[in-house]
Amino acid sequence: MDRNCDSSSLNPIWTNKATLKYDWTFHQIAPYIGRMKTSIASSLIKKYTKIGDLIIDPFCGSGVVALEAVAAGRPVIAADWNPYAALLTRAKLFPPENLLDAESRLKIAWELSRNRHAKQDLRSVPKWVRNFFHPTTLKHALAFRDACVDIGDDFLLACLLGILHHQRPGFLSYPASHLVPYLRDKKFPRQSYPEMYEPRDVLIRLQAKIKRTFRRTPKNYNLLKKVIEIDARKFPHTNNINAVITSPPYMNELDYVRDNRLRIWFIRRNIPNGVEDIRREKVQAFRDLIKSVCIRLAPGILEGGYMILVVGDAQKGNFRNGKTTKITKELFKTENILGSFQLISTYEDTIPDIRRSRRECRGTKKESALVFQKT
Ligand SMILES: C[S@@+](CC[C@H](N)C(=O)[O-])C[C@H]1O[C@@H](n2cnc3c(N)ncnc32)[C@H](O)[C@@H]1O
Repeated sequence: MDRNCDSSSLNPIWTNKATLKYDWTFHQIAPYIGRMKTSIASSLIKKYTKIGDLIIDPFCGSGVVALEAVAAGRPVIAADWNPYAALLTRAKLFPPENLLDAESRLKIAWELSRNRHAKQDLRSVPKWVRNFFHPTTLKHALAFRDACVDIGDDFLLACLLGILHHQRPGFLSYPASHLVPYLRDKKFPRQSYPEMYEPRDVLIRLQAKIKRTFRRTPKNYNLLKKVIEIDARKFPHTNNINAVITSPPYMNELDYVRDNRLRIWFIRRNIPNGVEDIRREKVQAFRDLIKSVCIRLAPGILEGGYMILVVGDAQKGNFRNGKTTKITKELFKTENILGSFQLISTYEDTIPDIRRSRRECRGTKKESALVFQKT
């Protein structure tokens, strides 16, 4: 453990139960692999910034840092190159004003989609997508998706994606897993569970989903909120940054496109090519990515401001014992422009199996928040 390590003062709550009880329910719009713990994000934000401070997250994923930042009265600029991540973050930062507003928006979008049910041509939908749904459910879901895209309603589209696949009755697919899309037709064969293969009422499920999503919502601050769908290496030059708080992609651990493929297909009606996959790249790629993003953002950070990187370390396989942590720390020592940053704290915790996307695999086991301060 790092000698600066003082995880007790961040008081991380690692169990799902504790988090779910207090989380803003916008965090639960739809799942995302490798999501940062909300309590970690909010503790870091509250400890290292104050109301009105500008926070940047260049690898925003599902927008945990972004939502916690605005909920705590901090303006935020978030970026991710994955269209699903950008959509989720926009949905959380720009939601309807309240449940009534959300319900009336749903009514409008649903009316618009109804005329399109019959027009959906499922022959243009790839077979691997069709395999997940009853044809009627798929037509209704696609028509609703098209209506949301036409109206530009990211919140409703995110809600649709949040109920897209699971084995529970409140979802739209045949029995399937929730986080990463796999059919569970062996565990729930059609002959034994015919009800799981019947058409599903999309509207009723959307109504229930929206109600759940509005259970616990943060105050709507009038702040700068920006979400950019972009490669973090091209993050726009920004000044007056008080803190960069981010969790970069875990080296060789997660594949954000493959694991979100069904939801990404629904957003675009295809799988985009432009989004590379760091999984297949080497250690050097991780170093280069962190280096170029940190160097790009460093000049805009105010003196006394912070660069806080929450990195994941695998303890098995090729990437043993603190590889990402070590690489990140070394980078700040060796790169000139990062020389003005000092590591002032390290918070560590192991990720319980319950939080891991694939429990049986050699996944990320430990998360460290490295806090560098610009001196
Ligand atoms: C560990 S996840 C972030 C999770 C996020 N903190 C959350 O709570 O959901 C890393 C993110 O980096 C994104 N990413 C990877 N390479 C990127 C790049 N070059 N530019 C922008 N985003 C990238 C991935 O799409 C993924 O969403």
